[in-house]
Amino acid sequence: MPIPPLAGELPRTISSAARLRGEPRLPGDKSISHRALLLAALAEGESTITGAGDGRDVAATAAVVAALGATVERVRENGLNVDYRVASPGADGLHEPDRVLDCRNSGTSLRLCSGVLASLPFFSVLDGDASLRSRPVARIIEPLRLMGAALYARRSDSLPPLVVIGRPRLRAIDFETRVPSAQVKSAILLAGLRAEGQTTVREAVATRDHTERMLRSRGIEVRREPATSSGGGPVAWTLEGGARLRPHDERVPADPSAAAFWLVAGAVHPDAELTLRSVGVNPTRRAAIDILVRMGARIEERAVGAGSASAADEGNEIGEPLADLTVRSSELRAVDLGPGEVAAAIDEIPVLCLAATQARGKTTIRGAGELRNKESDRLAGIAGGLAALGARITVDGDDITIEGPSQLVGSPTQTLDDHRLAMTFAIAGLIATGSTSIDRAESAAVSYPSFFTELERLRA
Ligand code: S3P
Repeated sequence: MPIPPLAGELPRTISSAARLRGEPRLPGDKSISHRALLLAALAEGESTITGAGDGRDVAATAAVVAALGATVERVRENGLNVDYRVASPGADGLHEPDRVLDCRNSGTSLRLCSGVLASLPFFSVLDGDASLRSRPVARIIEPLRLMGAALYARRSDSLPPLVVIGRPRLRAIDFETRVPSAQVKSAILLAGLRAEGQTTVREAVATRDHTERMLRSRGIEVRREPATSSGGGPVAWTLEGGARLRPHDERVPADPSAAAFWLVAGAVHPDAELTLRSVGVNPTRRAAIDILVRMGARIEERAVGAGSASAADEGNEIGEPLADLTVRSSELRAVDLGPGEVAAAIDEIPVLCLAATQARGKTTIRGAGELRNKESDRLAGIAGGLAALGARITVDGDDITIEGPSQLVGSPTQTLDDHRLAMTFAIAGLIATGSTSIDRAESAAVSYPSFFTELERLRA
């Protein structure tokens, strides 16, 4: 499976926009796209994935799935999204990869694939780019070793490359994750599919539950305690090993984390009205929307068809609630966020920091240390970039403080090759005076290939 080439265009310079109008096209949800590919590989037969995000991260997972012996076909693509057809011999028919599996920039590929590979009797090596090689893997190694797989990594088992020597009959475990992480939870549940007995993952704060929903729609019983599906609070997930996954046709919702950039753009720009279609608003993914509304953002939400919250919880065709969102220019006020909300909005914290620079008062974000473990040290990156633009932002340990509102002033910004920082600084450029330049802007293509095209289209 060839991986799409780098965009190779940039650096980008963004100047302020007089008005913002329109409907930005969104990529399919990155988290769901990764999972759909991996689950398709584990199920014997043909699965289709419609509207998968065509960022470089998801392409990395598609390449891993192909290297394990599934046939992955790109049926239709439009530069933003892709429809895949995956034909798999099923978990028992996959084969040992004959080369290193390149996860590129994608922590989700690395962590989720580790869980799958732990239960397959192969020797595999998972590697990636310089950023991925600096991201922690001990959190994955510990539970998967307890289940009986052998895993090794560089620097005393802390950093990739990661070697996984899988075992077909793993031991089921009852495990509490140390950091709230949907990637770790999902890796354990994926390994648990082929373990003997009941695997339980406990988390102190509920993280995104796509794996669990998607397993259910493929015929696997996954129990949740407590049973309600609202976000926040401790939760335990249990599944019984040994059941066979059914192939499934997945329709991927638009990515709420990508939508967050436009929600902030619309809220902070003085003359904006933007509409985002069929966005995934799963209770475990919608924290950024709710935080923005709390800050005073004028966001109108209309449930889309069978994707309404209750229908999805009853197991509708998509299994995820969807909504159209319209955002209009808003007067924002400061907000206080604690560690639970940071976990719930982990990918949107950088762009929420930008929103806070335009909000009246002092915003505090406590317990954001996990941002250091993302595609870059996002705490340092967001503070550096927003300070360069004239924001009043300080980082003290794991806490961020932002005083607003500030008039942002165009400046060079450093993205640290991190897609979410590149897109945050680009949105800042729409309201900053002068011009804002974004180094290595092509990193946006990790999750949102046509982001800069959309941005230019929205200037009315
Ligand atoms: C993801 C989970 C999050 C998130 C990442 C995608 C997933 O990571 O930051 O972009 O798809 O499970 P952690 O669960 O490790 O915090």
